[in-house]
Amino acid sequence: MPPNVQVSAQDRLQLSVDTSKPGPKIDRNIFGQFAEHLGYGVYEGIWVGPDSKIPNTRGIRNDVVAALKAIKVPNVRWPGGCFADEYHWRKGIGTRAVTLNPNWGGVIEPNTFGTHEFMDFIDQIGSEAYLSVNVGSGTPQEAAEWLEYLTAAQPTTLAKERATNGHPAPYKIPMLGIGNESWDCGGNMTPEYYLRQLTIYSRFVRNYNPAQQRNDQLQKIAVGPGGGEARWTEWTDTIMKAWQKRQWSWDMQGLSMHNYTVINWENKFASVGFGEKEYAQILKETLKMKDLVTTHSAIMDKYDPQKKISLVVDEWGSWYAPLPGSNPGFLVQQNSIRDAILAALNLNIFAHHADRVRGANIAQMVNVLQAMILTEKEKMVLTPTYHVFKMYLPFQDATYIPVTFNAGTYTNGDITLPRIDAIAAKDKSGKLWLELTNIDPNNAVEIEVSVAGLNANSATGETLTAPKVDSVNTFDAPNTVAPKPISVKVQNGKLTIKLDPKSVTVVSIM
Ligand code: AHR
Repeated sequence: MPPNVQVSAQDRLQLSVDTSKPGPKIDRNIFGQFAEHLGYGVYEGIWVGPDSKIPNTRGIRNDVVAALKAIKVPNVRWPGGCFADEYHWRKGIGTRAVTLNPNWGGVIEPNTFGTHEFMDFIDQIGSEAYLSVNVGSGTPQEAAEWLEYLTAAQPTTLAKERATNGHPAPYKIPMLGIGNESWDCGGNMTPEYYLRQLTIYSRFVRNYNPAQQRNDQLQKIAVGPGGGEARWTEWTDTIMKAWQKRQWSWDMQGLSMHNYTVINWENKFASVGFGEKEYAQILKETLKMKDLVTTHSAIMDKYDPQKKISLVVDEWGSWYAPLPGSNPGFLVQQNSIRDAILAALNLNIFAHHADRVRGANIAQMVNVLQAMILTEKEKMVLTPTYHVFKMYLPFQDATYIPVTFNAGTYTNGDITLPRIDAIAAKDKSGKLWLELTNIDPNNAVEIEVSVAGLNANSATGETLTAPKVDSVNTFDAPNTVAPKPISVKVQNGKLTIKLDPKSVTVVSIM
């Protein structure tokens, strides 16, 4: 907003931050990513092969690596998704087997991007592995051998095979998903049937890495709910009840939850060329994440009042209709300022539940659904959602600080939503950070911020907005939606921050 634009009284809201009541750590793993063998998510998006003209390091494209490094991706979930329950790891080491990808377009799966390529990729971007093992069509033995292959330090036959394939040292595997959507594409199991699988996989799939025996132990994540209906509350209840009564021979450290922002699965919304009505409908829908997290956290609290088990929202984000002309099985969509706001709202929900939500993976990292990055041959563009993840870097592992505010309202037709949203946190150096989202696409808001326990002197930050509700970045116009510096007035210890319509803003307060 130009600095001279006047703001009316109704567009002025108060917000207070109380640094004397610090909350839990906002686990950096809520900023996790998801890379499935789906469409151009892995092949073309990450892997181009060592002989490609696209600049690459051992087959992995350098532009994508540099962009992901800059957002400090804490973990990458791989190889799926539905793909994981049909993935047989041996086909992706040594001599590769060419198979099919029946879930996603029925295309050829060359298996050229396998275990070693994935571990190389996460090493190049400075991230960590979150592997999903095959429960649907695999066996506990197959999964156990994959983990032995990856993590054994002693000279077992599998560890020696790993060394022959180029990696003598054991790999670190911090997170392990036991199946994926086992209630649906992962085998259509009942909660009781899945529970039997979980106890077996949990017992026999071991991490042998000597460096992960005391600290940094492997987190095993069970399949959890996929929505808020009775079927899903029963699922969470069954798993958590069994965990509370567990014997020594099995354990888990996390329960997964999947929730996409979709209004009609049969007739999905478009990711481009939409108006304010669809903007408001999607944001209303995405805010349901709050109820889901609250509902399932409450069930978990019943069996785990000490909050030992993390809720890991390992698939979330917008799911729109495939772009015209694209393979419908490839889930290609554009990414607009609406998605940036959607991302901020969800990240804030996770942060507000930081005592239980200690992991989340947006779907998906490159070229699929709500991606950070889109590529086309040698071209690459960063999406508005990418910029949100970059702006939120100070919140990784920061301490949650409570904020209170009157959110005001934004109305479109019969939809009324809270107009603003916010989180605050202190980073490790003690610096205070504030995030403010203005959902209202038409009106700026002026926020007067008071900070108890800090005599604020100055504040600086960045804001992300766009000309229209459906503004996107393209290969030809990559900076239509890009963060810009924001100036903040500080007087008598109070900050006055003007938020542009439809914007995400992050400031540090000193
Ligand atoms: O992210 C796309 C798909 O959505 C995943 O493969 C599956 O787990 C979910 O249904």
